[in-house]
Amino acid sequence: MRISGKKILIGVTGGVAAYKALETARLLVKEGALCQAVLTKDAARLVRPESFEAITGRKAACDLWEDERAFRPAVPFGPESRPIHIALAQDADLFLVAPATANVMAKMAAGVADDLLTTAYLAATCPVVVAPAMNKFMWLHPATQRNEERLRRDGVHIVDPDEGELACGYEGVGRLASPERIVRFVTDILSPDGELAGKKILITAGRTEEPIDPVRVITNRSSGRMGVALARAGLRRGAEVVFLSGALSVPPPEGIWLVDTPTAERMTKATLDIGPSCDVVVMAAAVGDYRPKKVETEKVKRSGPRTLELEPTRDILAALSGSRGSIRVLVGFALEMNEEEQRAREKLERKGLDLIVANRPEVPEGGIGKDSTEAILIGKDGFREEVPLSSKDVLAERIMDRVAYLLRNANAG
Ligand code: CTP
Repeated sequence: MRISGKKILIGVTGGVAAYKALETARLLVKEGALCQAVLTKDAARLVRPESFEAITGRKAACDLWEDERAFRPAVPFGPESRPIHIALAQDADLFLVAPATANVMAKMAAGVADDLLTTAYLAATCPVVVAPAMNKFMWLHPATQRNEERLRRDGVHIVDPDEGELACGYEGVGRLASPERIVRFVTDILSPDGELAGKKILITAGRTEEPIDPVRVITNRSSGRMGVALARAGLRRGAEVVFLSGALSVPPPEGIWLVDTPTAERMTKATLDIGPSCDVVVMAAAVGDYRPKKVETEKVKRSGPRTLELEPTRDILAALSGSRGSIRVLVGFALEMNEEEQRAREKLERKGLDLIVANRPEVPEGGIGKDSTEAILIGKDGFREEVPLSSKDVLAERIMDRVAYLLRNANAG
């Protein structure tokens, strides 16, 4: 009952998935949370406010003007006489918007406050969690992606939508995360004692860039999304996150200790310096295996064919596993075009890892540089779990589940 007594404002917007907000509310109430629902007009057409009242024990608020009279107690000038949107937002320990439509996300990102839910959002100073649900084309539209990024930058926590059958008849990304996943996400944020509290996790992320000359580099297509998702998953569970960052195509999360490590050499040095004092190291970075033997000090001029001599970089994981210090769990990735499971098992062995995440650079609708991927988690202890095509946030959750399990076992042993 990690959220017992916590006040959660549940914002429900007008998507078909609105009915799932009832189950989310029921699970939160079961965990001891005090829930108050606020529905947009469209949401109230899809689910009855009375249903929320039955589950939460509190009248659902739907209208800035009508509910203003119903909710505001008749105490003039006292704190109790605050307008409803301020009172709802300020009294909440967490504001959850689930499901969030593309329209409401856009309004939140732009600061448009034209109904009770969006005015409450602007008045909220507590953590805000948004669980989007919409058609896949609407989710992938640049405008929605921009709004999602904007919200993340504003400090809003996003529960990535799932892949699967959508109400509109399409298959793909955009399904509301399951009520269980949303409740877990909320619990991790609210509970000061997450299961990784007191643990230090080093995560490497992004792509290294090996200079050829002052303007050119050798690099790869990694976006850093996987490492960023892992950092978020670690933070939500209360861990201290050290984030060694190669080049990223997405913003890193707030609340981490970020060290810039643009090249394989810098990443090697920082990992070997900091890693052994951590409890967990997860190498999600796409580290260059080769770098130019000689870096030109001047920009190379065009002058016919040219040969670039490359030398291998050091295998960071293999080096780290030889001097683990306080590392209890060492996790690597294996990016393989074929025979991925067998090759990942060989890497697990060769690099002395506890867990390896086997994935392919390209899968239908996912892979390197994309939002989603599929993977197989393989443990030194015989553990094996297939994670079907899902967002990198979902995969990060699975990895952190296993890391937490291994830490518990390492502590017991
Ligand atoms: N890795 C590392 N140091 C390197 C290269 C990779 O620690 N110089 C890590 C990656 O972060 C990843 C794991 O090793 O966690 C496997 O990376 P991958 O590119 O799949 O394998 P490589 O060891 O580079 O082998 P190959 O490219 O030959 O498959």
